[in-house]
Amino acid sequence: MQLTEFDSFNKFLSGNLVFLGVSIALVCYLLFEQLRYFWWKRSSKLPGPSFTLPFLGSIIEMVKNPYEFWEKQRLLDPQGVSANFLVGRITLFVTDSALVRAILNNNSAKTFLLALHPSARLILGKNNIAFMHGPEHKELRKSFLALFTRKALGVYLTLQETTIKSHLQRWIELCKEKSPLEMSFFCRDLNLETSQYVFAGPYIGERRDEFCSWYITVTKAFISAPVFFPGTNLWKAYFARKKIVALLENAVIQSKRYMADGGSPRCLLDFWTQRVLEEVEEAAQQGRSVSYANNRKMAETMMDFLFASQDASTASLTWTLALMADHPDILKRVQEEQKRLRPNNEPLSFELVENMTFTRQVVKEILRYRPPAVMVPQNAMGDVPLTDNVTVPKGSFVMPSIWSCCMQGFPEAYKFDPDRMSPERQEDIKYRQNFLTFGIGPHVCVGREYAINNLIAFLALVSTECQFERYRTKKSDDIIYLPTIYPADCLMKFVKVSACQ
Ligand code: HEM
Ligand SMILES: *[C@@H]1O[C@H](CO)[C@@H](O)[C@H](O)[C@H]1NC(C)=O
Ligand SMILES: *[C@@H]1O[C@H](CO)[C@@H](O)[C@H](O)[C@H]1NC(C)=O
Ligand SMILES: *[C@@H]1O[C@H](CO)[C@@H](O)[C@H](O)[C@H]1NC(C)=O
Repeated sequence: MQLTEFDSFNKFLSGNLVFLGVSIALVCYLLFEQLRYFWWKRSSKLPGPSFTLPFLGSIIEMVKNPYEFWEKQRLLDPQGVSANFLVGRITLFVTDSALVRAILNNNSAKTFLLALHPSARLILGKNNIAFMHGPEHKELRKSFLALFTRKALGVYLTLQETTIKSHLQRWIELCKEKSPLEMSFFCRDLNLETSQYVFAGPYIGERRDEFCSWYITVTKAFISAPVFFPGTNLWKAYFARKKIVALLENAVIQSKRYMADGGSPRCLLDFWTQRVLEEVEEAAQQGRSVSYANNRKMAETMMDFLFASQDASTASLTWTLALMADHPDILKRVQEEQKRLRPNNEPLSFELVENMTFTRQVVKEILRYRPPAVMVPQNAMGDVPLTDNVTVPKGSFVMPSIWSCCMQGFPEAYKFDPDRMSPERQEDIKYRQNFLTFGIGPHVCVGREYAINNLIAFLALVSTECQFERYRTKKSDDIIYLPTIYPADCLMKFVKVSACQ
């Protein structure tokens, strides 16, 4: 009896000792963290808050109103670098275009690597192209050149036109029953279907709906807690991704067979397969192998493409609608150009789109004025000197601000003005160093040509096939981070253009 009492007292004591030990360790860690931040900030002389919440840092403020948070941070330092502290990590916010370029150009296992999401490796696969670097990455990217030739882009345009038209038709039908529609959702569906059709259309076929629902499961994980346990969103996403990759692997096998039989490329995957088969043959003659040519690896890369092509494009489609509704004078000039180039609504072709000078100007300005990927966050993999006075400490976050770059140099940068992209003013070329919507350096967006063409095609068709009107609310001019930027709402009504117009 006495012995048991002694025993439980002992247990009580040791339990409490463990608790005490853990508490002390935690307090020490938090203190260490704060001191490290404080000390580093002092030595680097960067502007920014001197103290922030232990562990959390400014994350709550950032999540609550990201636009205001980053804008405030930007204004701290006209030199282009400032400091903050987010979830236990020293964070550098970089707004100067020259420094942003230096960071994005300097991608390696020892300097900067993309930081997407705590669970990105689970959701997107550890071999994702965004996490690659060095010669293997370079070699893979070289094989993409075949995907965006004039011929390939021409083939895609026909597919894009079919998909866009069918969605516009649907929007018009829906609006007969219920309007307005929140366009960000409808743009997402449009873009997802366009990408599927363009990338692997003939090979997904009847499984399109299944594919879409898996895909949406995967994307949900990005805005869910990073908890990997049966039933969580992350868990579901992990298995949904496996199913998508399996389906795409089957697509790769079919495409290889089709192209080996001398077929003519019908989608992006076919163009890539054609190129890969050539490379494999060439490599075999030289006794080499091609690292990305196996079916699984190709399927994973197709998955990377689908992902990379989704969010930013959807945001830009939404901005296109919002900005056109808000600038009827600009929309009218787009319509005039379209009337001139396609008097009978001729189908789109590469050459036609190439001739759409003003429509292209508008798209470029949309991409500058509202760059969807406002930041390209990086993990510092080592201590990396950034300026004469500032060294990025290993383990910190670095936030190169694409938004700030797009507002740097351009006259009246905060004004939406497609004429700045005209053949006379050529600000897209004059300030190309700051026009970083698609990034720069070894990871610069693979799909930029395609993305621009897609927006031109969309604008060309939406401006000629329908009339649309935006319903404004008090929030309509706000910007939200998802984490690409969107208008807080984009409520619209669509009607068919009357035949007599
Ligand atoms: C408006 C649309 C788009 C925008 C604003 C955009 C922007 C970007 C940005 C900022 C990056 C990172 C660049 C860097 O790290 O320096 C990127 C990477 C990438 N984008 Fe896009 N993108 C768009 C559409 C697309 C489309 C349609 C595709 C596919 C056809 C695509 C494929 C990729 C890929 C594969 C990467 C990763 C490249 C690598 O890591 O080597 N993107 N994009
Ligand atoms: C594009 O413009 C060029 C030069 O003005 C013209 O020769 C060509 O016919 C145009 N092509 C189309 C498809 O409109
Ligand atoms: C990239 O980082 C390395 C390592 O710190 C540095 O020596 C080099 O100068 C940097 N290069 C660029 C282009 O900033
Ligand atoms: C960085 O150092 C240079 C001199 O090396 C100095 O002129 C400049 O003001 C310093 N910048 C900051 C932000 O302290």
